[in-house]
Amino acid sequence: MKITAHRGGSSLAPENTLAAFNKAAELGCEWIEIDVQLSIDEVPVVIHDQTVERCTDGSGAVSSMTLDSLKSLDAGLWFGEEFRDERIPTLEETLLLARNTNLNVNIEIKLYRQDDLVLLCEKIKKVIIDLDVEASQILFSSFNIEALKYMQYHQPQIRRGLLVETIPANVLLLLAEIEAYSLHCNYVFLKEQQAKLIKKSGYQLYCYTPNSPQQVSQHWDWGVDMMITDVPQAYINILTYDKF
Ligand code: G3P
Ligand code: MG
Repeated sequence: MKITAHRGGSSLAPENTLAAFNKAAELGCEWIEIDVQLSIDEVPVVIHDQTVERCTDGSGAVSSMTLDSLKSLDAGLWFGEEFRDERIPTLEETLLLARNTNLNVNIEIKLYRQDDLVLLCEKIKKVIIDLDVEASQILFSSFNIEALKYMQYHQPQIRRGLLVETIPANVLLLLAEIEAYSLHCNYVFLKEQQAKLIKKSGYQLYCYTPNSPQQVSQHWDWGVDMMITDVPQAYINILTYDKF
């Protein structure tokens, strides 16, 4: 039983910021999940939405802005005055922080346009190679199976997790095709039989995004391995592990 701080523990600090990642580390989380896409000048940046409106004081599509423009935005003030001047982090900054704080990183490859697939995957790969990040400290995840196939071919040593909303009938074929490590599904739709099938087939089973432990009390019994949650702090008192 383990916990991942979703977008860095996004109930504690503005999601997908260095402040959020630091909070997750302070809590003792082993894993954070981040969303990665490209700026127009091809820098992998950590932000969830296709546009910057919700989580910054700017406007426009992430893919239409340079890194400098993205960095000029305040990514913390929307969450609280104490986070004023927080910035959209790059993947590089995030992986450096993760190294310094002993966090492992679930890199969600966020593809809003299929045409960006090769470039986004290549730029992510380059950052990981340049920083010489240990494969064991990273997990790639994506709703886009083609992106995971690309990474399987180009960085096979890094584990892959397939993201789905509901579990499709051909899930085992999909997982086999990418030699997946894990399946990540929406906890709301998961059924006991499906969970047992995934576990019996040898895969790790992750659930997103249960924001209270009570929502997933049965899921642990079904064998779910990881909860990806905005509120990792809520799990502290119920888990008997030193780290989560
Ligand atoms: O990794 C689980 C979760 O992050 C997938 O959905 O939209 O929050 O990126 P989303
Ligand atoms: Mg995500």
